[in-house]
Amino acid sequence: MREFIYFSKSARTSGNFKDLMKAGRMDIMCHVVIASFFLSHKLREDVKLHLVFNGPPDPPKHLELVSNSAMREFISKKDVAGLIKRMLFKYKKGRKVEAFPGCFIEKKSFGDLISDLIKEGKTVYLLDAKGKDIRQTELKNAVFVFGDHEGLPKAEKKLLKKIAKKISLGKETYFASQAVVIMHNELDRRI
Ligand SMILES: C[S@@+](CC[C@H](N)C(=O)[O-])C[C@H]1O[C@@H](n2cnc3c(N)ncnc32)[C@H](O)[C@@H]1O
Repeated sequence: MREFIYFSKSARTSGNFKDLMKAGRMDIMCHVVIASFFLSHKLREDVKLHLVFNGPPDPPKHLELVSNSAMREFISKKDVAGLIKRMLFKYKKGRKVEAFPGCFIEKKSFGDLISDLIKEGKTVYLLDAKGKDIRQTELKNAVFVFGDHEGLPKAEKKLLKKIAKKISLGKETYFASQAVVIMHNELDRRI
């Protein structure tokens, strides 16, 4: 399973938004979901994507999307925002809700998510242009963390300082969704 965490400081934490760009750049989140799950003619079967939203009105929200055989029935490239909105509307206080098969929502902070993944034995890699070249890095039990258009905020970077290994995809700064595509390609070539 390839595991990614997308963190957005400003993405809205309720489903009542219309303009994706004004909802904490939900347009970027949509591109990230598409890049994570979609290939040209099929869905990837081995992806877990965590979306952590810290925007208003009720942060934090942790949305977890896991590849599964039913996914093609409810995920469409044309309406990723609709899926995420419906997940946000299905949030219930104090519970982890399975809004759609393999699609969960709960209140969980970035820090708590990272602690849980470390307890599961994951190695946390922070995607950072200043990190070690991914092509020189062995990746085992990996979870890859990346930020939105503003990058990972200082507080979250600080939290990862002693925990995560920084890996670089090269000198250019890529869109978050492009970073996912490059990661997938690197991993596809290692199989
Ligand atoms: C659009 S970039 C963020 C740009 C932001 N101004 C910054 O400097 O962090 C979105 C995310 O993609 C990842 N990313 C972009 N280019 C990268 C690279 N060359 N190597 C590794 N990660 C990269 C980083 O995790 C970044 O948070």
